[in-house]
Amino acid sequence: MKSIVVLISGRGSNLAALIAACRSEAWPAKIVAVISDRDAPGLLLARAQGIETQVLPFAGFASRELYDEALAGTIESYRPELVLLAGFMRILSHRFVERFAHRLLNIHPSLLPAFAGLNAHRRALAAGVRIHGATVHFVSTVVDGGAIVAQAAVPVFADDDEQRLEERVRAAEHQLYPRVVRWFIEDRLRVQDGKVELLGEQEPMQLGLGPAT
Ligand code: GRF
Repeated sequence: MKSIVVLISGRGSNLAALIAACRSEAWPAKIVAVISDRDAPGLLLARAQGIETQVLPFAGFASRELYDEALAGTIESYRPELVLLAGFMRILSHRFVERFAHRLLNIHPSLLPAFAGLNAHRRALAAGVRIHGATVHFVSTVVDGGAIVAQAAVPVFADDDEQRLEERVRAAEHQLYPRVVRWFIEDRLRVQDGKVELLGEQEPMQLGLGPAT
């Protein structure tokens, strides 16, 4: 049984999708704790499912390094094999990222490397792209820059606004993140030279695109 710790700052819809998949697909894994830097709505969702929660606000810490040290200690107290960022709105220090290297995943709301950073949907609309999406990647010291595991693509329509596009991407995220986490739990991910390989029976590492012809 692998232990998973999830970090959130917001509503936790990806967290909900992960909890649901973990249960319904009977993963050999357990979400042992959800940690937030604020009183996030997603914490209620975790508590309702009987998952331990912790809130660690930045206020009171003199620097990012000290905060990240405390955060790392809280995470490590659960001895997780995997740490998931699911809308955690803090940039993590290099030291933190290195400490959790190879067991730290993030979901970003764009087809990386396009639109790394904040307001990805707004920037995608402004750029006029026709295809947008989400990416799950290992976290490296470059923000939104680690090895890409899998991506989900969605169309962008002429009459989209930020909210509609965000909802479409969010629905795709809820398919994508649980799938990748399951691969991790099954020890099927290998990273070599910055590229991720999926071991075993081949499954598409991209969602939302038709079959290759
Ligand atoms: C998602 O769009 C994710 O890609 C980004 O933060 C958002 C979290 O949403 N990293 P939620 O809290 O899971 O609903």
